[in-house]
Amino acid sequence: MLSRSTLSKAPQAVGRLGGAMSRTAAMQRAALLHTLKPRHQQASAVPESESSVAPSTSATTASLAQQALAPLDTFLRRHNGPRPSDVESMLQALGFKTLDEMISATVPSSIRLPSELSIPESSLAERELLAHLQVIAQKNKVFRSFIGTGYTDVVVPKVILRNILENPGWYTQYTPYQPEISQGRLESLLNYQTVVSDLTGLPAANASLLDEGTAAGEALVVCLNAAKKGRKTFFADENCHPQTLAVLRTRAEGFGAEIVTGDYRSFDFDTLEGRLAGALVSYPDTYGNIGEHKALADKVHALGGQLVVVADLMSLTVLQAPGEFGADIAIGNSQRFGVPLGYGGPHAAFFATTPANQRRIPGRIIGVSRDASGNRAYRLALQTREQHIRREKASSNICTAQALLANMAAMYAVYHGPEGVRAIADRIHRYTQVLAAAVAAAGHTVENTSYFDTLRVRVQDAEKVHASAVARQINLRRIDAQTVGVTLDETVGRADLEALVEVFGGDIAGIDALAAAAAPTVAESSAVPRSLVRQSAILTHPVFNRYHSETEMLRYITQLQNKDLSLANAMIPLGSCTMKLNATTELIPITWPEFSQIHPFAPKEQTQGYAHMIDDLERDLALITGMDATTVQPNSGAQGEYAGLRAIRAFQASQGQGHRNICLVPESAHGTNPASAVMAGLKVVIVKCDAKGNLDLADLEAKAAKHREALSAVMITYPSTFGVFEDGVVRAIEIVHAHGGQVYMDGANMNAQVGLTSPGHMGADVCHLNNHKTLAIPHGGGGPGVGPICVKAHLAPFLPGHPELVNADGSPKSSVGPVSAAPFGSAGVLPVTWSYIKLLGGPGMTSVSQVAILNANYMANRLRDHYSILFTNANGMCAHEFILDTRPFGKSAGVQAIDIAKRLQDYGFHPPTMSWPVPNTIMVEPTESESKEELDRFCDAMIAIREEIREIEEGKQPRENNILVNAPHTINVVSGETWDRPYARQRAAYPLPYLRERKFWPSVSRVDDTYGDLNLMCSCPPMENYQ
Ligand SMILES: Cc1ncc(COP(=O)(O)O)c(C=O)c1O
Repeated sequence: MLSRSTLSKAPQAVGRLGGAMSRTAAMQRAALLHTLKPRHQQASAVPESESSVAPSTSATTASLAQQALAPLDTFLRRHNGPRPSDVESMLQALGFKTLDEMISATVPSSIRLPSELSIPESSLAERELLAHLQVIAQKNKVFRSFIGTGYTDVVVPKVILRNILENPGWYTQYTPYQPEISQGRLESLLNYQTVVSDLTGLPAANASLLDEGTAAGEALVVCLNAAKKGRKTFFADENCHPQTLAVLRTRAEGFGAEIVTGDYRSFDFDTLEGRLAGALVSYPDTYGNIGEHKALADKVHALGGQLVVVADLMSLTVLQAPGEFGADIAIGNSQRFGVPLGYGGPHAAFFATTPANQRRIPGRIIGVSRDASGNRAYRLALQTREQHIRREKASSNICTAQALLANMAAMYAVYHGPEGVRAIADRIHRYTQVLAAAVAAAGHTVENTSYFDTLRVRVQDAEKVHASAVARQINLRRIDAQTVGVTLDETVGRADLEALVEVFGGDIAGIDALAAAAAPTVAESSAVPRSLVRQSAILTHPVFNRYHSETEMLRYITQLQNKDLSLANAMIPLGSCTMKLNATTELIPITWPEFSQIHPFAPKEQTQGYAHMIDDLERDLALITGMDATTVQPNSGAQGEYAGLRAIRAFQASQGQGHRNICLVPESAHGTNPASAVMAGLKVVIVKCDAKGNLDLADLEAKAAKHREALSAVMITYPSTFGVFEDGVVRAIEIVHAHGGQVYMDGANMNAQVGLTSPGHMGADVCHLNNHKTLAIPHGGGGPGVGPICVKAHLAPFLPGHPELVNADGSPKSSVGPVSAAPFGSAGVLPVTWSYIKLLGGPGMTSVSQVAILNANYMANRLRDHYSILFTNANGMCAHEFILDTRPFGKSAGVQAIDIAKRLQDYGFHPPTMSWPVPNTIMVEPTESESKEELDRFCDAMIAIREEIREIEEGKQPRENNILVNAPHTINVVSGETWDRPYARQRAAYPLPYLRERKFWPSVSRVDDTYGDLNLMCSCPPMENYQ
């Protein structure tokens, strides 16, 4: 083994962005590290002073040497906020001597892990981590990808890459539920909706979905809900992308819908009379043909169904909009608007529809409203209609979606503008024309009747063509033994074209002549049906016509960013959301080409790096959760719930228990739990909680007994959504098992569990993790999300499959269908979680849980004399979050939780979670990453607000016109010419001294929710509003 002294001579800096070390030097160092055992696995991991066994002399020397040469860039002390001396004083304030003592008073001993969590190859220092991961990344081969199938390579404008994707000011934002401090991303997401609605020709668009496959599933459900009762048949054209069809079929099962596939051109739709709810067709189709769908739309409408069109945003810049030929819904993936491939995700899907379907749209919708001063303000529209409110009546479980990626796509349109995106589309099409002609000249048959960017080519021997392509580091689509597919994109240059022509045995000398003969635009091309050339204008709004120079673009992005409070500004103490540090080191690898430029269907030989990382992750996540197997496929926590429940159902069916269809869900559960259960075809039965917020075990037992014959599962969140480690969890699990049910554990609160206990240890059968909470993937303003599920061995065969996940003989790896369009979901951000785990290791992650619990209890303790804390255990301890009861202030001062939340914005904080799980309360989760100073600053603000409430209670401030109900205060209001409020301007804006140093101004006054819902406007306001 090499010693650290050898290593310390190696160059230090690692990473493309740092750039100081040559690639070779970095590789050498990484290779050295690869042979090194991680620190915690080395013989001398425990300092001798703490070891009870007398060390041998050589062991002593080794240990001393290791300590002497240890790196300084260790991670845990950067990740955890409180310094060791702070931990000591915080423990003292709580009456404990050690963290262990505090944990013993918090976590029931019956569920504590018997031994320390151990993660292989972990506890690396930051530079070691990057070097180690670089070696793994190098196992991925970055080939030119012309596979298409819904994913293309892109040119990510660097100004967007650096200032959005790599910028914590954007990626650490939370979902914009607090519009006054979220106007930047709300505007950007509204731009996204405008792009989608402009290009699809359908006026109502949402602010992103998870991927194209799940968007097709969402469209199916909208059609089912809109159709006359009993209509459960949905037609899907066979020339949609295979993964889209596969996810659609999965989704249909839970709703009892029948998917009929065929070729829409020859299919006899009359056979579906009285049954048809809708039809799905791809435009262009998976092989590149651009069909005319007007007649199909008419036929589907005549039969009482809706037409769903899977569209491609780039081709829509030059092709007729689906809304113009009668589509009711358009869905698709916005990836090719400047979002990297990332081995399949994360990318934002889109969903646009007619006004008739407006209130059925799944996911989040940004709307335009006004603020208390009468100014225009953006907000999440129809918030009260959100899926979690609909609970068991929900037809979709979308919560976290892909906001960050939607922002990137929107900015791509802003940057290029209508002319720019058209020029890109026309250029792609010119290249495709030249390639089509060259391929035909080489003696092959281009089978397309029409095309934009994709060719289906009949050759004599497809294997030979693929071999020739691979030799040139090119991937083509494998269709069959005599057919290959090629999809071109905006990255294609002359060298690629020449290589492609050679792959098909063509003559590169002829390229110039073919290029000169190619139609310069789609509008003039014979490859596109004349009737389908776009006539309507696109992206006419000023926002798409103003910011085309880099300086202007940079300033626009920054201007929006400055309106939004992110972790770069202050703590975001959102209960159940775990807004922890998203460390820079963890984020750096996601833009390495070896991770970001890999097509999800690239051959296995080229994706060994991903395979290595995903294998590591699957094993490590199973260790963390005490389970036996993992899939990283689900794109969000809610998708994990759905995948987990489907695994349970498939297992039960395999045992002859397929009739089991009851899912017990506690009344305290997050709304996605019942929604996911319904989507998995289960009936929800609600279980009560007692006055202390614990699961009512008597009610659970009674309901489990009542439904004994049909009990499928229970869904438990632990620690509970009330923020307590319930003693009764093991008993609850026993009850459900005794009645034949399986136990699903919602892992949203895993940040309090890691290393202390685990779902598997407690007895659960399956759980999900929210990697975008517990495991450091940033929230991105509402996504990306990654919601892996971990299962016990008996459920492992029922994890979701995928058309691309096949055994050596071509048979599917799982009999259960996929829940995401890509085999490994949002694979492109998995390096974040991998890095988090490898940096911290088992002991580090255990420390994280301890400090998360310490921080919460420290705050609860400081606030206890000012607010009542709603739920704690018998020792007065909360878990990693706690609920402040703000309900009494309604009576005493006319103040509601929302007033406190808005006033907190004046103090420079993002408000905690509001009115969930208990109406009119606030739930605080500080996370381990916040320092004692930041916790104190927040507590000071809350205490100062309590005093402001007292002034109202004591009649010193009027109940209707006071500093709370008028909050937040914008700079315009505070610096306005007139001031007629019963408190000073200075108090409104600078209630505590620290604000003189770090004031964050809400950019609009309180937003009027009712007005926004009544006057729904979901794309950019008309131009006159900007003049
Ligand atoms: C307890 C709980 N379960 C499930 C979810 C859904 O997770 P996601 O938003 O990743 O879909 C959330 C989201 O906040 C949650 O708090």
